[in-house]
Amino acid sequence: MSEIIDQLKVEMYTRFGIQPSDVQIVRSPYRICPLGAHIDHQLGPVTAMAIDQAVYLAFAPSGDSQMRLQSLTFDGNVQFDLNAVPDKQESDWGNYPRGAVRALQEQGHALTQGIVGLSAGKMNEGGLSSSAAIGVAFLLALEQANNINVTPEENIRLDQAIENGYLGLKNGILDQAAILLSRKNHLTLIDCESITHKLIPKSRAMPPFDILVAQSGLKEALVGTGYNTRVDECAQAAGLLLNAVGRPDQKPLLGNITQQEYNTHQDKLSGDIAKRAKHFFSESARVQKGVEAWQSGDLAVFGRLISESGYSSVHNYECGSEPLIDLYHILIETDGVYGARFSGAGFRGCSIALVDPSKSAAALEYIQNQYQQKHPQLAKNASSFTCQPDDGAHIQ
Ligand code: GLA
Repeated sequence: MSEIIDQLKVEMYTRFGIQPSDVQIVRSPYRICPLGAHIDHQLGPVTAMAIDQAVYLAFAPSGDSQMRLQSLTFDGNVQFDLNAVPDKQESDWGNYPRGAVRALQEQGHALTQGIVGLSAGKMNEGGLSSSAAIGVAFLLALEQANNINVTPEENIRLDQAIENGYLGLKNGILDQAAILLSRKNHLTLIDCESITHKLIPKSRAMPPFDILVAQSGLKEALVGTGYNTRVDECAQAAGLLLNAVGRPDQKPLLGNITQQEYNTHQDKLSGDIAKRAKHFFSESARVQKGVEAWQSGDLAVFGRLISESGYSSVHNYECGSEPLIDLYHILIETDGVYGARFSGAGFRGCSIALVDPSKSAAALEYIQNQYQQKHPQLAKNASSFTCQPDDGAHIQ
């Protein structure tokens, strides 16, 4: 970690002439979601952990209203004036700083000070929420440079505005909430309706585990996948259920229906719509059971629920792409794995597992071999690694 920070400081001097002592660093981690997949946008409960791999953003105030940015990960300069933020450009990492500036301005925060910045981050393939990590990093840097105090809850809303507004993805608050609120050795339980959370410490009774990340090599962006279509299908299911319970004017979100109302009226749904609702209600129940298992240190039950979540994501929510689903199947049959699912939306990126650390090395080898046999082309760009839960985003 200090290696990357040293490198960023050297590069800030070489590229922009900024002295190391004037450089500040945001560390914005990637996240996993063991339980609560695809229910954040319907205001269901979700669980998360930040991991010990992160996006780093080195920055210093620019001294004027100019934003001057480069990245060790992505090509090209990003440069714009705070008073004339350009619109979204397809597949351009500059969308995150531009979206961060717009989100802050739209919430009435006066920005006078631009930043000179250089970002670095290894995992930009999806699944670990690199997009929210980079969005959060730019928000924190801009707030610091402009002396703006913002609560983590407001930052969650601001980053959501980047994703929903500027980027056009209809996602929920899982990613940015996990990145901002998580703490080492805790499970973060997030109520997506009220944006409140609980940090649940790891029980002493719980055996140790590694988080194993198995990358697929698939890198397509989320806008343009089936993500938004699934959100619309959930809204259709919610609309039908709200009609059935006599509250047609309520916002069509599955979180506005109780489990009991769903049990009574589920026969009003059929086909794909019925499957999406089944995923929402079964996943909400798994979150609840998972929290109990985590509290009592029962990693076997917690892991089994993660694999069940993976199953429901494939069969009810129908959102994984083939390589991700194959990885899920490989992971659940790997020795030492407590539970697995694909990470994030499941259209690209990675699958994750919780694994017995004494079996991690063999598991990594087994997974790589199996994946190589199934998807030789993709496996060339895919690697697997283990990591640990860690603290949320901060300026260090
Ligand atoms: C992506 C979205 C999140 C969430 C997950 C699935 O990461 O950005 O809001 O819906 O997929 O749980």
